[in-house]
Amino acid sequence: MAGDRAKIQGGLLGWIDARFPMSAMWEDHLSKYYAPKNFNFWYFFGSLALLVLVIQIVSGIFLTMSYKPDAERAFASVEYIMRDVQWGWLIRYIHSTGASAFFLVVYLHMFRGLIYGSYKKPRELIWIFGVLIFLCLMAEAFFGYLLPWGQMSYWGAQVIVSLFGAIPFIGDGLSLWIRGDYVISDATLNRFFAFHVIAVPLVLIGLVVAHILALHEVGSNNPDGVEIKKNKDENGIPRDGIPFHPYYSVKDLVGVVVFLIFFAIVVFFVPEGGGYFLEPPNFEPADPLKTPPHIAPVWYFTPYYAILRAVTIDIGPLSAKFLGVILMGASVVIFFFLPWLDRSKVKSVRYRGPLFKWAVAIFVVAFIVLGWLGTQPATTGKTILAQIFTTIYFLFFLLMPIYTKLDKTKPVPERVTSK
Ligand code: HEM
Repeated sequence: MAGDRAKIQGGLLGWIDARFPMSAMWEDHLSKYYAPKNFNFWYFFGSLALLVLVIQIVSGIFLTMSYKPDAERAFASVEYIMRDVQWGWLIRYIHSTGASAFFLVVYLHMFRGLIYGSYKKPRELIWIFGVLIFLCLMAEAFFGYLLPWGQMSYWGAQVIVSLFGAIPFIGDGLSLWIRGDYVISDATLNRFFAFHVIAVPLVLIGLVVAHILALHEVGSNNPDGVEIKKNKDENGIPRDGIPFHPYYSVKDLVGVVVFLIFFAIVVFFVPEGGGYFLEPPNFEPADPLKTPPHIAPVWYFTPYYAILRAVTIDIGPLSAKFLGVILMGASVVIFFFLPWLDRSKVKSVRYRGPLFKWAVAIFVVAFIVLGWLGTQPATTGKTILAQIFTTIYFLFFLLMPIYTKLDKTKPVPERVTSK
């Protein structure tokens, strides 16, 4: 194959193709990768997630050139980046805004998967790689947040690492092992730095490659949930497919430009995001002797934080704190099971009945309310609200086999529609 092409092409490309599958890869993944022609707005977020990944890696490399992973110097080195390093403020704001943008984009990307049933057969592995990516992303954000060594960095890490202490028998030893000390300290900062700049990004990139290879193996889903590979023309090309390049490379470019406009507005005009992207206590250096009055994670973690705090009773020997940790873990891990919890015959919300639509709508409300509750100091009333919405959150998944089976579905067309 490669040899034949080399004979025809000649030149530099032919020389390379005889030694490396350059044109073959270009064709397989771009110019002859046939994607459904009916992608809509929701299909922008995969390519945007890739863009944000690149933005984070590039801005992160530049930050690393001036940042000092040392408890005595970390905070000052960030101030130095902000004030003295040329364009340092821009690089830092790009990276801090990028963290929030990443979660926003990935949440919308996951929501698309949910409404169009993109996790269903044959795309279970794409989804599983996606959930693993999401877990990595959470670890990456958590490790990165300690690095500026501000009050919230320090106390946020203290709260989360001490959660491991709630695990029976091994808890204390485990949290000591994670910190490398009895409190968050220089040793912790060094290891979090190692994880943030190399270990987790390597795994993340590997998973993203696996995610896209799995996608290109089975082909993209689409807003109709119609399998375009089932209807091919005499040349073996899906009738409802169009080559990714140039059609979607150009379409995605429009998404990129619009995204970058919003991104630049935040970076240049509201980099702190009203205290949500960069939290006010983090402009104070970490002080192990002074606990901030109100510790809250960054906005993208708040739904899970609210679930953690919703558990207030001990059950037998299991402490409320431990049960909260388990429930918080379960709230993410449960996403892995979505392909098997959903028993519907159809993929897309377009052909599903009212039960699924209501369930998704209520789930979204629960997720947002939990997110808000996670930013608030816990009061009796708010704890009860968190308990109610935590229950709703889990019922969405646990009752899914029932309501997706009972739901009335509409017939799915043979070909994609151009709605
Ligand atoms: C760094 C993070 C991620 C990157 C760079 C990424 C990238 C992509 C890209 C480029 C696509 C193809 C374009 C598209 O369909 O929008 C895609 C599809 C998909 N992704 Fe992701 N993704 C990420 C995270 C996730 C997560 C967290 C999940 C779910 C938990 C997920 C689930 C899916 C699914 C199910 C598809 C197939 C969608 C379809 O064909 O309808 N991805 N991803």
